[in-house]
Amino acid sequence: MTEPAVVLDHVAVRFQANGSAIHAVGDVTISVADNEFLALIGPSGCGKTTLLKLVSGLVQPSGGAVTVYGGTAAQARRKRLCGLVFQEPALLPWRTVEANVRLVAEIIGRRANVQELVELVGLSGFERAFPHELSGGMQQRVGLCRALAFDPPILLMDEPFAALDLLTRETLSAELLRIWETRRKTVLFVTHSIPEAVLLADRVVVLTQRPSRIVDVVAVDLPRPRSAEVEESPAFAALVRRVKDLLRTTQDRAVR
Ligand SMILES: Nc1ncnc2c1ncn2[C@@H]1O[C@H](COP(=O)(O)OP(=O)(O)OP(=O)(O)O)[C@@H](O)[C@H]1O
Ligand SMILES: [Mg+2]
Repeated sequence: MTEPAVVLDHVAVRFQANGSAIHAVGDVTISVADNEFLALIGPSGCGKTTLLKLVSGLVQPSGGAVTVYGGTAAQARRKRLCGLVFQEPALLPWRTVEANVRLVAEIIGRRANVQELVELVGLSGFERAFPHELSGGMQQRVGLCRALAFDPPILLMDEPFAALDLLTRETLSAELLRIWETRRKTVLFVTHSIPEAVLLADRVVVLTQRPSRIVDVVAVDLPRPRSAEVEESPAFAALVRRVKDLLRTTQDRAVR
């Protein structure tokens, strides 16, 4: 059996903020297989972004352990094993679209087909624009290109399509699936959209309110490649319902 890409072993995260402690992640254990597409879903503030930051080595666990391809998250960071597509794309304001996309690839000396990527996300004609000249959704697409440009084995995606209109969102998720299927990457994908999670993922992890734990992991056994027709199937609807029901239980817990 091949080594898992990511293992979170009884991971907990507590933050210190303004003198008080925030217990963000309670106790999360999950193993993500190499080439798996894993979606994470849960109430706002439950620690989804924090989980991705743990894998990318930007946040340290207060308890438990994070392993990325058998090493630590810090080692994975040095080796640039993870491409990050975060809620805030954090583009360099003094670099053009083209130069932002090339950024990480440039640092690690890899060639990137910038033109192809820019076309892929529908930003042709904006190669020489600066971030402040773009809308929020366009900036997010530049962030997506930047992560794809250096072809990392793991993609950590934090609501990457949240700021996009429905059609662009559909185009980009279809494109992401195509890239994932051809280049075989491991994807950890945070979203608030249940249909998006079910359409894309092999498994959907449902998290509780903070401090988060895993309520359940739903295996999505729909055939691939998945097209828009899959979304019309009764099996798809049943999976969406199942994830929704699980999410409801997290709200019940918060009320009590
Ligand atoms: N650097 C930090 N310092 C202090 N508290 C933090 C820090 N980062 C996150 N938190 C807190 O940890 C909790 C989880 O935050 P996180 O951003 O991981 O949630 P999330 O699940 O991604 O939420 P959303 O769905 O709204 O994006 C929140 O209560 C947040 O205030
Ligand atoms: Mg978040």
